[in-house]
Amino acid sequence: MAVRTITLIPGDGIGPAITDATVRVLDAAGAAIAWETHLAGIAGVEASGSPLPEATLESIRRTGVALKGPLTTPVGVGFRSVNVALRKEFDLYANVRPARTIVPGGRYDNIDLVLIRENTEGLYVGVEHYIGMADDPKAAAESVMIITRYGAERAVRFAFDYAVQHGRRKVTLVHKANILKYTQGLFLEAGKAVAKEYEGRVEFDEMIVDAAAMNLVLKPERFDVLVMENMFGDILSDLIAGLVGGLGLAPGGNIGKNAAIFEPVHGSAPDIAGKGIANPSAMILAGCMMLEHIGQADVAARVRTALETTIRAGDATTPDLGGTGTTESFAEAVVRRLG
Ligand code: NAI
Ligand code: MG
Repeated sequence: MAVRTITLIPGDGIGPAITDATVRVLDAAGAAIAWETHLAGIAGVEASGSPLPEATLESIRRTGVALKGPLTTPVGVGFRSVNVALRKEFDLYANVRPARTIVPGGRYDNIDLVLIRENTEGLYVGVEHYIGMADDPKAAAESVMIITRYGAERAVRFAFDYAVQHGRRKVTLVHKANILKYTQGLFLEAGKAVAKEYEGRVEFDEMIVDAAAMNLVLKPERFDVLVMENMFGDILSDLIAGLVGGLGLAPGGNIGKNAAIFEPVHGSAPDIAGKGIANPSAMILAGCMMLEHIGQADVAARVRTALETTIRAGDATTPDLGGTGTTESFAEAVVRRLG
């Protein structure tokens, strides 16, 4: 297997600990990877004065693939969010968030959903301002939602291509076109046009976002792949993470034409940073998505099996999963179970 160079960004807070655990597991599983470690977030500011150092960006430009821990956005450096800036820098237009039941006995035993979130447009474009009236400078506030046909089409096309590549049966487009007739209407119109190209190969339906929220809780089995604009994706991806046990188990991939960045969905967890009890599962699962992306799916499958067995056994898991283990004991247990 050819060794692939991957940019590794440990990140802030619990980031370095769960990154160590993840690298340990992936290396033990036989991943053919040369890690190139770089800083970002608070760690970047402390080392070089920038939350997104040029050396980090250069590395991602060259390798095309990064695995990153959570980043804390430093206050007062001119970035709304370092994560959003990274997605913009590399035009990572599709955010892939799978949710699959690992521990049975919860509300549902067979959740297997993939949410594709448009990652560059909508309300996240940052077009916001106050409107002053009389002596109140903040009498009103406006945020502009921007949807382009180009952006909608490529996100929906990504969802269909993902469905084809992963043998999925259906794509559901989630929207609010009944109220936001222009922005959401355009997303739906563009999405329907793309869906036509896949007729006969992948089923298609559409659902209003509020109805989708209810149905995801009541009848998650009616969904398979979901695609939607940026903020709806932000909200519903946390909802589906909740269906399978929360953020500690939720990985995500930010995919563009020339680069891809894989990460846990959760943040830097300052409340438990340094205590050695962070759950490394989401980061390990992000590592598995990364391995699948670079053509090392067999290694990913080995890691997934060992991780799932460890979580179900519960003998070494972290407190968020009801265990008494540490990040390290968790990683050790996964390594022990690698076949
Ligand atoms: P958070 O996800 O860091 O924490 C929320 C809660 O979940 C906390 O109680 C935390 O202890 C717990 N938690 C999160 N990950 C865990 C893990 N692996 N194991 C065990 N418990 C875990 O969200 P919060 O507190 O809102 O954000 C903290 C910082 O992270 C902020 O600066 C935020 O901007 C940043 N953030 C970064 C993200 C990224 O890099 N992709 C995503 C979300 C937040
Ligand atoms: Mg979010």
